[in-house]
Amino acid sequence: MTSTGKPRSSCSPGPQLPIDFDALEFLAHGTSGAVYAIDKDWVLKESWELDRGIVERQALGRLGSHAKIIGYFGEATSNSIILERGIPLLSPDQIGLASTQKKLAWIRDVAEGLLYIHQQGIIHADVGCENIVIVDGQLKMIDFEGCSMDGKEATAGYKWYNSKDDSVTLQSDIFAYGCVVYQILTGKPTFHELTESDDRRELVRRRCAEHRFPDIQGLLLSDVILHCWSGSFKSMAEVISALDSTSTRRLSPPRLTSILWKWIGTCPRPK
Ligand SMILES: Nc1ncnc2c1ncn2[C@@H]1O[C@H](COP(=O)(O)OP(=O)(O)OP(=O)(O)O)[C@@H](O)[C@H]1O
Ligand SMILES: [Mg+2]
Repeated sequence: MTSTGKPRSSCSPGPQLPIDFDALEFLAHGTSGAVYAIDKDWVLKESWELDRGIVERQALGRLGSHAKIIGYFGEATSNSIILERGIPLLSPDQIGLASTQKKLAWIRDVAEGLLYIHQQGIIHADVGCENIVIVDGQLKMIDFEGCSMDGKEATAGYKWYNSKDDSVTLQSDIFAYGCVVYQILTGKPTFHELTESDDRRELVRRRCAEHRFPDIQGLLLSDVILHCWSGSFKSMAEVISALDSTSTRRLSPPRLTSILWKWIGTCPRPK
């Protein structure tokens, strides 16, 4: 079986067409379908059912080409699409071996991707490290199947550790973004200690309702994470300015100078 899909985004030069379906290499599967490598740069995502995947195509078509969104090359068949290939963020060693500087850049990538998604009238509805891939060192969002477009109901939902309840709103995407930041910085999902509990979703819901979030004192970006979790950010634009002001605060010379002065003040004076 072969396909002669037409390019729909500015991803270039594009996969070898027509696709040799017999040569596809299975990579992974999710709840809606399976993902196969076409070659080193492109994958084919095939939906289990014919009517699955429609929303994802619509969303990717609307999102077009953006640095923090997976490149979309259009349909291969009625139930499969061609996407730029990345390395899943949760592949072994990706988070574990990344430097802090790299992690901070990744955190910014996801924020920019999510801001853009929201600006296009889309709520992702399954924000999480499972739905992020690395392409040329940058993070890009994948998996738009089940997202909410223009206020329509989402059919996707967050993983239990990325959501505080069953809602799908801008705020729930921002909550999940806070969980992504936590997982990138610590290497573990939020509420990981509840993994073995049968009622972990309910336990998380209760903890969040009582604002009993994981202890992140001393963690980089702890203020930003906490504001994502507590619902005080109204938009990803607010999140990005908080990220910016945190990094500015960390690096700004006046703050450094004042710390130095305080430290000098505590030094014993020479006799
Ligand atoms: N563009 C890509 N490059 C590399 N791997 C990918 C790509 N897209 C998807 N994958 C892999 O396939 C998995 C399943 O893809 P995706 O999340 O899009 O499918 P899904 O069926 O909608 O998933 P879910 O189980 O989250 O509903 C991803 O978690 C990832 O490991
Ligand atoms: Mg997924």
